[in-house]
Amino acid sequence: KQALEAALEQKQAVIQQAGITQALEGEWVDVTLPGRKRAVGRLHPVTQTMREIQRIFAEMGFQVYRSRDVETDEYNFQLLNFPPNHPAREMQDSFYMKGGSEDNPTLLRTHTSPGQIHAMREYSSKDPENPPTVRIILPGMCYRFEQITARSEIQFTQVEGLAVGEHITFGDLKGTLSDFARRFFSPDVRTRFRASHFPFTEPSAEMDVECFVCHGEGCPVCKRTGWLEILGSGMVHPNVLRNGGYDPERYSGFAFGMGPERLTMLRYRIEDIRYFWRNDMRFLEQF
Ligand code: PHE
Repeated sequence: KQALEAALEQKQAVIQQAGITQALEGEWVDVTLPGRKRAVGRLHPVTQTMREIQRIFAEMGFQVYRSRDVETDEYNFQLLNFPPNHPAREMQDSFYMKGGSEDNPTLLRTHTSPGQIHAMREYSSKDPENPPTVRIILPGMCYRFEQITARSEIQFTQVEGLAVGEHITFGDLKGTLSDFARRFFSPDVRTRFRASHFPFTEPSAEMDVECFVCHGEGCPVCKRTGWLEILGSGMVHPNVLRNGGYDPERYSGFAFGMGPERLTMLRYRIEDIRYFWRNDMRFLEQF
């Protein structure tokens, strides 16, 4: 045993020495070479947009409310007044996961709206007789089981907004969102509201901003309409208020949801949403 150990030790020393000799001969530092530049990290363009949206709404008195990515069918759909056979609930459109029950499966949230219920329930539980007013935005990642194209990704962010109180009107919705557009795009941007439909708001509206490329003339960016759709919104449906612990006879509210990827694409005229997740430095470095 001792002989073997001695031989091994000797061999190890020889190999080690050979390694050192080789390294000394092969590797050397040319101190005259210029230094290598380190790539400087920066915030992802979508993060920058999210932060700007948060900053604008913070100025208007909205607080950030964080809500979970993994949801139940109950919160993602049922409590938001989705009828049982709504197409968004199909297996093909949502990422269902293990867990939950047959009537209440677990899934990745398809929008940030389930956070409305979590927030209203938390607020109203503090004082069920006189629930406090709510003025929040809910930023976060959403997931949809869809074909990935230049315009749609399976994973994307949303910023939801919710205001609930005793005298909130559709005028407040219009004023708040038009003001947001002016602060985000430019002080003279025109906006318009088009009737729309969402199960959790009534009435519902989509907001367009005047195309900032052609200023309403019609161009390829706005598909010749002169307008760009930027968000969905509406007055919170009475059933949703009730599900959140707010009496719809006494309280009203408005809600909206916008997509930071889309806003970023419009702002910088990025043509393909897939760039955001490709991690290509040549793209990311531009922002
Ligand atoms: N959740 C909706 C969507 O994902 C957007 C929305 C939010 C609409 C709030 C109205 C009110 O398309």
